[in-house]
Amino acid sequence: MGYCKTLAVGLFAMLLLAPAVLATDPDPLQDFCVADLDGKAVSVNGHTCKPMSEAGDDFLFSSKLAKAGNTSTPNGLAVTELDVAEWPGTNTLGVSMNRVDFAPGGTNPPHIHPRATEIGIVMKGELLVGILGSLDSGNKLYSRVVRAGETFLIPRGLMHFQFNVGKTEASMVVSFNSQNPGIVFVPLTLFGSNPPIPTPVLTKALRVEAGVVELLKSKFALGF
Ligand SMILES: *[C@@H]1O[C@H](CO)[C@@H](O)[C@H](O)[C@H]1NC(C)=O
Repeated sequence: MGYCKTLAVGLFAMLLLAPAVLATDPDPLQDFCVADLDGKAVSVNGHTCKPMSEAGDDFLFSSKLAKAGNTSTPNGLAVTELDVAEWPGTNTLGVSMNRVDFAPGGTNPPHIHPRATEIGIVMKGELLVGILGSLDSGNKLYSRVVRAGETFLIPRGLMHFQFNVGKTEASMVVSFNSQNPGIVFVPLTLFGSNPPIPTPVLTKALRVEAGVVELLKSKFALGF
């Protein structure tokens, strides 16, 4: 095939794919596709569907977010996830939710959702919400104390955190435009990866002595 023809075919393919590139999760091709979480025989971009006749009718409802999580954790944080693994009915629909409870002073450490934009509402208390722009923004920190009833927006892929600045427990509910938004916790990823990032990489990157890196690694040796 000549170069021009290859180029033309390539451009045509890009035009065809453009809407898919702009979307997040792929569009469904049926009313529902309740995830068969045990379906191991076939691998697709998502989970395979249970037969409609076996799906039942409770896949459209969940009460898992009704209860507060236990915030007696190292970060004073309890995340109750409602992604496709917890709510198989969301499979192929491009949505999911979390409930997050915070002890006073509790924090949801800096993290990234690689596959979703997040939109959230504070249900109780006062949360400092911080969103970090990429270098394009001049590395800007956008932040505000968000109170009960108020909402916030986290563009896909940007690093962000929440911190309970109030005197009481706080909680929020967040939604994602992905059935499986994924999460990259920055401190855990840098200092608790498996296997660990070699210390010389981190001493150079962070401009500190090896002892500082080893100390930070020790804090995440047991995971989250
Ligand atoms: C919360 O978790 C802590 C630490 O694991 C535990 O001691 C406590 O009993 C839990 N509280 C409830 C209400 O489950």
